[in-house]
Amino acid sequence: MGLTAWVPRHAGVALGAPPAAAADGSVVAGVEPDRIVAASPVALTPRGARLGGIEQMDWPALREAVAGCRACALCESRRNTVFGVGHEQAHWMIVGEAPGENEDRHGEPFVGQAGRLLDSMLRSIGLTREAAPPERQVFICNVLKCRPPGNRNPEPQEVAQCEPFLKRQVALVKPRIILAMGRFAVQSLLRTTEPIGRLRGRVHDYEGVPLIVTYHPAYLLRNLPDKAKAWDDLCLALDTLRSRP
Ligand code: URA
Repeated sequence: MGLTAWVPRHAGVALGAPPAAAADGSVVAGVEPDRIVAASPVALTPRGARLGGIEQMDWPALREAVAGCRACALCESRRNTVFGVGHEQAHWMIVGEAPGENEDRHGEPFVGQAGRLLDSMLRSIGLTREAAPPERQVFICNVLKCRPPGNRNPEPQEVAQCEPFLKRQVALVKPRIILAMGRFAVQSLLRTTEPIGRLRGRVHDYEGVPLIVTYHPAYLLRNLPDKAKAWDDLCLALDTLRSRP
C-alpha cells in the first residue's frame, strides 16, 4: 500500500486507507432492421448485424454475444474478442480504449506494457485484477472488444456498434466508481469532444455511476510528468468512493 514506483516523487500526496447504434442496443444505425438478429446462435450472425436484446442479457449471454459479434469489420481481423476481466460485482470499473496486439492474442485487456503500468497504479491504491473481494478486485474492460488493425484509433461507427456491450457491462457490474482512461473511453462514455485536460479533476456521471477521467497508461508511458496528474485522479476517485455511502 502507498506510493509505489509508478508515482513521481513530486506527486506529494498522502494516501490513506485503501479503499450510431441505438443506446439501448436493440437497433443498429446503418444496418437494416432485417439484419438484426434477436436470438442465438451467435455463430450464425451475419456480418454487419448485431444481436438485439443486449440490454437484457446476463453475463453468459453477454459473453457469448461479444465472442460471436460480427457487427463491424474488426471481426475479420481479430484473433480473439476481449470481453473484460475481473470481479463481476467489482466496486471499481476501469475502462480503456481497445485491445492491442497482446490483448488480441491473449483475449484479456491490458496485458502489455500499458497493462503493467495500470496494474501498478491499481496496486498503489490497494486494488488488483487478481481474485479478491469486490472492493479490491476491479473489473477491467475496453470501449472496443476487438483490436483495430495496427492499433489505429477506433472509428466512430466501431465505438457506436460496441457501445451497448459496455453499457450492459456497467449495468451488470453496478460499479461504485468508473475510471475512464484515455480520450476514447472518456469521450465515448461522457459523449463529449472535450479534451481530457479539461475534464479531469471533477466527478462526472455515467448512468448514475460517478466517473473519474484520467490519462491512458500508454500515454503516461510517453509523458512521464503527467503521472502526477494521474495520481491525483486516483486520489479523487478514492475520495469520491469514500464520500458516498
Ligand atoms: N490499451 C487499451 O486501451 N486497452 C487494452 O486492453 C490495452 C491497451
